[in-house]
This record gives sequence, structure tokens and C-alpha cells, in this order.
Amino acid sequence: MVEGYPDVGWVTVCPDEEVANDQFREFHLGDQPCFLFRRRGELHAYRNQCPHLGIPLNWMPEKFMDLDNCFIHCATHGALFTPESGDCIAGPCQGDRLIPVKVRVSGGVIEASL
Ligand code: FES
Repeated sequence: MVEGYPDVGWVTVCPDEEVANDQFREFHLGDQPCFLFRRRGELHAYRNQCPHLGIPLNWMPEKFMDLDNCFIHCATHGALFTPESGDCIAGPCQGDRLIPVKVRVSGGVIEASL
């Protein structure tokens, strides 16, 4: 659970088979926008909130990666985040990180929790 946010428990996002490698899925936990994706077979999930200004990272639905498909990219000022850790490695919030969201697969369904 993230301090300051209500615990909404585990929320069903979508069937596991709908998220292939390098595919993203946006969803909400309570009123918190979040996104998840699969990279090299592993699921990762974060709050959709840039640590620089606290606004969503993407301008286009489910488009979060830079042109080289290496880093999560903030569309507003160009901060770059390591997909596996959420660490900001370049941009105005370098040294900060995305807020992770817990994610699991249960009975063929992806579930997420703060
Ligand atoms: S709002 Fe994301 S880098 Fe400024």
C-alpha cells in the first residue's frame, strides 16, 4: 500500500494473454491512474505519474516508451525511466523514481494493488 492512498485491494486488470511482450495496459486503482506492461516476459506496473510535476507520463493512450523502446518516457519534458525499476536516469527528475504498483497473475488474470 502507498502511504496517503486508500487501499483498494487487488483489482482485476485484464486477462494475462492480452498483454504480450512490450504491450502496455492503462487502468485505475481507485482514482489513481496506473499502467502495466510486460517486458522480457516479466510484468511491471507503476502509477501513471511523473515525479517531476505529478502529471501523467503519456499523451497517447498506452504509449509510454521512447522511440528506441529502451526507456519509459515522460511526454511533457522528456524524463527517461528504467522499465524494470522505474528509476529516472535522465531529465528534470533524475534520481527520483516512478511509484511501483504490485502486480500478479491469478487464474490467468492480471491483478494489481497499491
Ligand atoms: S512532467 Fe515529466 S519530466 Fe516534467
